[in-house]
Amino acid sequence: MIQQISLLVDSWTGISGSLGYLVIFVIVLITHQLLSVSRPHPITTNMSNNSTTAKEETKVAVDPPRNFTAKQLAYFDGTKDEKTGEDKPVYLSVNGTVFDVSDGRNFYGPDGPYEKFAGKECGVALAKMSFDEQHLGNLKGCSTELNFGERTELEGWIEKFTYYRNYPIKGKLVDDDDLSKLSTRILTADDLAQHTGESGQDIPEGYATAPIYIGAGNKVFDASFGGVEFYGSGGGYNKFAGRDISRALAKMSFDPEDLQNTNIDDLTDKQRKVLDDWIETFQTKKGYPIVGTLGKE
Ligand SMILES: *[C@@H]1O[C@H](CO)[C@@H](O)[C@H](O)[C@H]1NC(C)=O
Ligand SMILES: *[C@@H]1O[C@H](CO)[C@@H](O)[C@H](O)[C@H]1NC(C)=O
Ligand SMILES: *[C@@H]1O[C@H](CO)[C@@H](O)[C@H](O)[C@H]1NC(C)=O
Ligand SMILES: *[C@@H]1O[C@H](CO)[C@@H](O)[C@H](O)[C@H]1NC(C)=O
Ligand SMILES: *[C@@H]1O[C@H](CO)[C@@H](O)[C@H](O)[C@H]1NC(C)=O
Repeated sequence: MIQQISLLVDSWTGISGSLGYLVIFVIVLITHQLLSVSRPHPITTNMSNNSTTAKEETKVAVDPPRNFTAKQLAYFDGTKDEKTGEDKPVYLSVNGTVFDVSDGRNFYGPDGPYEKFAGKECGVALAKMSFDEQHLGNLKGCSTELNFGERTELEGWIEKFTYYRNYPIKGKLVDDDDLSKLSTRILTADDLAQHTGESGQDIPEGYATAPIYIGAGNKVFDASFGGVEFYGSGGGYNKFAGRDISRALAKMSFDPEDLQNTNIDDLTDKQRKVLDDWIETFQTKKGYPIVGTLGKE
């Protein structure tokens, strides 16, 4: 076999004997390089430049771990943000762990070979080494549809992303089905008060942080999905966590009285409109999942 190739190489190059082997070696080396480059592992570490490290540290400080809905995750696909004109980061989820793979933009970003993975759960696709669309967005499949070899493969990817690539972890993708089950609950003021996102509160399985419930109108939103910096401890709206904030929002008031008194019957039309705008913002712009209906006594 080697001899055949050697002959082939000889006939290409006109070189014979051991030089031919050298040529084979070089060809193998080049092929190897090409293959490694086509794997989704760009070598981006630049030891001569400290700015990448500095940037990541700032980012980690700014963004606490958060939960994502599938729709929120889909935003981070590396395309241009129409409003700011800037390129969005590229996130993807592997078995529910959301990584910022912006350093691998050439692979996962627009026009990259793995662009379909951007903004999606891709654990099953990676485990099966498949580009089949049906394997994308299949979070539950990571636990239920993989054989032993595929599970090992998936664990390998998570390890590579975490320790070898050092892709920053942004939080957890929470399954849409699990969230929609929550949305039908009726919650009391006491239930809300138990979900302020404070450390020590239970972090549900598959969640990055403890939920932060806020009530607005008759709905309860979980602001831990991207709103931890506002409503979490130290955030400017932390006083709103675990409360019905309808009245405070409508009156744009931080007055403790407007948090105690949750009655909204006496609001003016203008104040009602402000409240409705906030609810619209929570639902559409922020994408906070609805985790229940407020049971007002
Ligand atoms: C590393 O950073 C230096 C300084 O910015 C730059 O000149 C060089 O091209 C970079 N190397 C790579 C491989 O990105
Ligand atoms: C990188 O940072 C270290 C410590 O902050 C500094 O000593 C070193 O000179 C920096 N290297 C470059 C190439 O900027
Ligand atoms: C690091 O990279 C940035 C932008 O890529 C560049 O402006 C800066 O001069 C580089 N610093 C060093 C020490 O190479
Ligand atoms: C995927 O995540 C689930 C839930 O966290 C876990 O039980 C399972 O072991 C994970 N699978 C792999 C292959 O890591
Ligand atoms: C994620 O959601 C869960 C369930 O609502 C919640 O317990 C947890 O605090 C959330 N974490 C973050 C960081 O939002």
